[in-house]
Order: sequence, then C-alpha cells, then structure tokens
Amino acid sequence: MTDNNLPDNIEPNATSHTLDEANKIPKHIAIIMDGNGRWAQARGKKRTRGHKAGVERAREIVETSGKLGVESLTLFAFSSENWQRPQEEVSYLMELFVIALNREVKMLNKHSVKLNFLGDTSAFNNKLQESIAKAEHLTKDNDKLRLNIAANYGGRWDIVNSVNSLLQENAGISSISEELLDSRLATSHLPPLDLLIRTGGEVRISNFLIWQAAYAELYFCDTLWPDFDANELQKAVDAYAKRQRRYGKTGEQVQADGDE
Ligand code: FPP
Repeated sequence: MTDNNLPDNIEPNATSHTLDEANKIPKHIAIIMDGNGRWAQARGKKRTRGHKAGVERAREIVETSGKLGVESLTLFAFSSENWQRPQEEVSYLMELFVIALNREVKMLNKHSVKLNFLGDTSAFNNKLQESIAKAEHLTKDNDKLRLNIAANYGGRWDIVNSVNSLLQENAGISSISEELLDSRLATSHLPPLDLLIRTGGEVRISNFLIWQAAYAELYFCDTLWPDFDANELQKAVDAYAKRQRRYGKTGEQVQADGDE
C-alpha cells in the first residue's frame, strides 16, 4: 500500500500510442462556427459583414473536408436560440442562407455533395424553405460528402423530438432504449460524431448535438470562424489523430483490442 492507503499495483493509463496518425481521419466532423460578429467588429464593420465572410469560410471548409475524405460534415448555422438576436440580424441571416444556398447548390452537386438540413426548418420563411427543399432534392443521390446544415436546431429539441416520434409510433410504449432514441434523432442516418470543433474561443457546446457528442472528441480554438481556413481544419484533424478514444476502457485494453 502507498502512503495514501491506495493499493500500489494499479497500472497507469497509457498516455501515448503508436498508430499511424495519418490514417485517422474523422468520419464525422461537426463545427460550431463562432466568432463572425467579433471578426467584423474588430474591423469596424457591422456584425452582418462577419456572417458574409463566414459563408465564404464554410465553402472552403466543405471543400477541404471532401479532399480529406471526411464522410459527414455538420455545420451549426442557426440554433433554436438564435431567434433571440436582433431582428435585423436574423433577417439578414435568412436572406444570406437563401443567397448562399442558391449560389452554391450547383457546385455542391457537381462535387457529389449530399446536402441535408437538420432542425425544425418549418419555422423558416417560404423562400428559404423552398431553397432548402430544392437543394436537398437536387443532391439526394450524391455519395461523396454528406453536408448537414443544422438550422433552427437544438440538441434538446432533437432528443425530445425523437422521444415524441417514438411515442406517436408506439402507443403504450413503456421504455425507450438508447438505440431506439438514437434511431429517431436528426443524425440517425449519419456516422457517429467523431470530432466536434468550436471556433471563437468559447468553451461550451451551446445545445448542439448534445446526445451525439457523448463520445466525440472536442476541439476548441480561439480562431474566429471567418479566419478558420483549411490549415486550421488540418490542425484540428491532426489533434484528433493524436487522441486515444477509450470509451471507458483503459489505454492498454484499447491497444490490445486494436480499436484505434
Ligand atoms: C456565429 O457567429 C455564427 C452564427 C450565429 C451563424 C451564422 C453562420 C454563418 C453565416 C457561417 C456559415 C453559414 C452556412 C450557411 C453554412 P457569432 O455571430 O455568434 O459571432 P460572435 O460570437 O463573435 O458574436
């Protein structure tokens, strides 16, 4: 026994591993694109100018994700709480989404990107809902990168929505398993979330993919979203590649299982 009365034959956790890091590309990356407003304000511009720059950056990150071989990229474009922003900013964002969607959809289709919206899009204006429906329809058979735009999305909404769907489908249901709940989430058709990135310096999840992030690797950086370029994404992927995902096991067990 050691001085503090704990047994001294407990193996230490492994802190390093030897796998080929270059092969460890996350299948599913999600990003909280934070910092547009501050980016613009730092340049003496209106916050909306930051959102415009943010769209350009999203374009680059989609392209880079495809090149890296990421299967699924989920971007948090508008949370269920973002309606509380000044009306002028909300209206600008709606208009920007329509313009960006209509402008980019052909390019996305050409690169075989399959676009899907996650969230309660029925709250958006008709123009935006039409653009969403058209874009999803045009890209529905594509199979390279899945691009998921979380819009009017909230993690708690997603869980409650799943439970409500199950209750409606199975009158008198007495219990719900994790697998069942998972199967009705907005992300049920996607690979499990591997890497959750938040730009802009805040260290919180802000009601994004809260169920799905249970075992995701988290990556927070100070870079404001309009400055988050291909190089920054590579840094996040490199950091992910160095992590050992243990899912509650010891490092030795994971290595012995060859789970990494
Ligand atoms: C966060 O910056 C960004 C948003 C609230 C959402 C808007 C995101 C974009 C326009 C980028 C890409 C869009 C698409 C369609 C993929 P913030 O306003 O919270 O910044 P702040 O924290 O500096 O105020």
